[in-house]
Amino acid sequence: MNNITVSAPGKLMLLGEHAVVYGRPCLVTAVDQRMSVTIELTDQPIFELEAPEVQITNYKKQITNLGTGNIPKGAQFVELAVKNYLTSLRGAERRSNLSGIKVSTKSEFSSQFGFGSSSASTVCVIAALSKLTNQSLSNKELFDLSYKTVLDIQGKGSGFDVAAAIFGGTLHYITGGKLIEPVNIPSLPLIIGYTGVKADTVTLVNQVSDLAQKYPEIVEDIYDQILLLVEIAKVGLEKNHLEEVGQVMNINQGLLSALGVSSDKLETMIYAARNAGAYGAKLSGAGGGDCMIALAPPSKISAVKKAIEKAGGQILEVETNAEGVRIEP
Ligand code: MEV
Repeated sequence: MNNITVSAPGKLMLLGEHAVVYGRPCLVTAVDQRMSVTIELTDQPIFELEAPEVQITNYKKQITNLGTGNIPKGAQFVELAVKNYLTSLRGAERRSNLSGIKVSTKSEFSSQFGFGSSSASTVCVIAALSKLTNQSLSNKELFDLSYKTVLDIQGKGSGFDVAAAIFGGTLHYITGGKLIEPVNIPSLPLIIGYTGVKADTVTLVNQVSDLAQKYPEIVEDIYDQILLLVEIAKVGLEKNHLEEVGQVMNINQGLLSALGVSSDKLETMIYAARNAGAYGAKLSGAGGGDCMIALAPPSKISAVKKAIEKAGGQILEVETNAEGVRIEP
């Protein structure tokens, strides 16, 4: 075998963002919009990348130069994933299996949505290379190498998106993969509204970290309150008490707003959803833009979607609980 296609799902944070970076749990669900990566082993010792959705075409580099020089943003995760994978191989394995590597990525969703396209492509690259080189990585090994790659580039992050891409479903998660526990629930009737604004996760995480430096006790208390909300929501989801889950989503939104990561547009869409009968609504992910999510009773779903659109949002139709990383036929 000298080529393979692997796909992984995008994700949506349900509750617990930001606090999860500081050791509290979060709830994340994988969505059925997938990133797929095809890898071909080639004869020349060259790394090639085609990632048109992030404006990377005909990108080439000597394998020995991976990770060096000025790497365009759209190429960083794939290039570093290849480099980290090759470094993880012992010398003999590296020489016997590999010469050049050609990577092509394809996404069912825009990298603007905040669905975690970078983490999903990182996971796909490492999973694909391990298959092509007959190294059987456990999911935990795949997680550790992918998370290392994300940290090499971003410096910060909990890795919840890496876990969602690998394991799929809905997860109860603690930073660094200290806890990766499936939450056994059916697909959620989640309503997703895209703000049209791209958020920069690292900037927002740094902003919250600055706030925590200035008001350490207050921010730590907020994280602890978020932890409690995540635990209530987990039980609520397992019991299908969506009204209660909606209520704790609203409280979580208030705390995220206190951390300074909400925005006018997010608030407008969130209030529109609540006023149209949603049980609850909140931002999802880093904040500042990207998406908001809402839960509503079946009779109100259509009205909530219309209200979000009227507030300037775009409804994204996705299924939650999607399957984790897989080899495509
Ligand atoms: C970003 O989608 C979610 C954050 O909690 C960062 C992270 O968990 O890596 C803000």
